[in-house]
Amino acid sequence: MRELGIVADGAVLIADGKIIAVGPTEEVAKHERARKADEIDCSHNVVLPGFVDSHTHPVFTTPRLIDFEKRIAGASYEEIAEAGGGIRASLRGVREVSTEALTAHVLRALDEMAEQGTTTVEAKSGYGLSFDAEMKSLEAIREAARRWPGTVVPTLLGAHVVPPEYRNNPEEYVRIVCEEMIPAVASPQRNSRSPSTSSGQALDSRPPDPARRDREETRALARDDSNNLARDDSNNKDGRDGAPEGAPLQNNPSAQHGESSARLAEFVDVFIERGAFTLEQSVRILRSAVQHNLGVRGHVCQLTPAKLVPLLEFHPASLDHLDFVGDEDIAMLAKLDTVATLLPAANYFLGLSAFPPARKLIDAGVPVALATDYNPGTSPTPSMPFVLSAACTHMKMSPAEAIVAATYNGACALRLQARKGSLDPGKDADIAIFDADDHRELAYWFGGNRCRATLMNGIPRAKPQNAG
Ligand code: NIG
Ligand code: FE
Repeated sequence: MRELGIVADGAVLIADGKIIAVGPTEEVAKHERARKADEIDCSHNVVLPGFVDSHTHPVFTTPRLIDFEKRIAGASYEEIAEAGGGIRASLRGVREVSTEALTAHVLRALDEMAEQGTTTVEAKSGYGLSFDAEMKSLEAIREAARRWPGTVVPTLLGAHVVPPEYRNNPEEYVRIVCEEMIPAVASPQRNSRSPSTSSGQALDSRPPDPARRDREETRALARDDSNNLARDDSNNKDGRDGAPEGAPLQNNPSAQHGESSARLAEFVDVFIERGAFTLEQSVRILRSAVQHNLGVRGHVCQLTPAKLVPLLEFHPASLDHLDFVGDEDIAMLAKLDTVATLLPAANYFLGLSAFPPARKLIDAGVPVALATDYNPGTSPTPSMPFVLSAACTHMKMSPAEAIVAATYNGACALRLQARKGSLDPGKDADIAIFDADDHRELAYWFGGNRCRATLMNGIPRAKPQNAG
């Protein structure tokens, strides 16, 4: 995870939303398509693959300020949840508003993420917690994805907590997740706002290949004093790329005209925790997900230890948080391609002194990703650079490790490493440009924003209309 493959005085040539050449500027300049290309001068900039934020909860309507003040006064996350705050406090807002209003919330979050260099986002439902409100949440994600130039991977988190109306019958709620929500999101025909014109496509399901990861990491970063980014738009006059292969969701011309072939979710997630779902209930939910051909991921070991073995038969793309993961489970994860996604912004916001055991995981050989966990209860930040800062300062990751974790390994956590996470020919033109001379500055500065520009699938991020 330490090898970035830095290219000094480098250039990236892109066309039709894809990277077509990367390397020293004088080499790339010889490319036949470089002659007609528009140039973005990146002198004194670091040019990175866009961040892949592989764990976010953007479908909510209001900040949880009462919880925030209670915590400042000394209450813990669990105490606040038991007193009626926590995840359940976000339900009413999501259940009451229209899909359009929810879409606007999601879109705002996506844009704030892009402003700080994020180009691919995993987005979970999980604050509706009824069949209708979970479907509405996923429709809002789908609609926001259609209006955003980056790439969104939707996840059903119907199993976030048991909603109040099933407090006395949690088993019935688990049944609804398994037998109603999961089949509905797995089908591209149901709950789609527009008629689907093709059958559902699966995500790239190739597991992360460590050898390929090493090869690709060597190309993961171009840095330089006179970095250039060249865009060959000769076949792409409107600056948009061609239609993607289906899922994940991504802005594309055909989708904008009402065709959408993607199913409502690609992954199913479960919050496996005291006060949320037991391991046994979670296993049932993940089994249903796999039976319906959906990928699986899990929130686990965030507040209390749990055994990972029962989850592994489902081949999770990622297990997330892992603050209380045991040594034996770390040794087991090192043999698998499941990514450990660490979320230090949640520890920061909850005021915890302990952080996820990044060093133990990395030193044991586990692929580690970093993500924001953007949500109203534990991590209201859209900023991957802040996460890099927290990872380096509080988890002792090196800046290079943090960058790999936030790009290539994030892509692995979504099983998108064939298209995302590094600057390689053939990959999507997802690029973030930072005002910095050295890659270590990305994790060094915090609280500001050094991201100068973001390109998503070749499309430059437009400034919000009301920006000065
Ligand atoms: O990842 N742990 C469960 N889910 C979120 C918190 C959600 C909330 O408090 O609203 C998390 O930290
Ligand atoms: Fe989360």
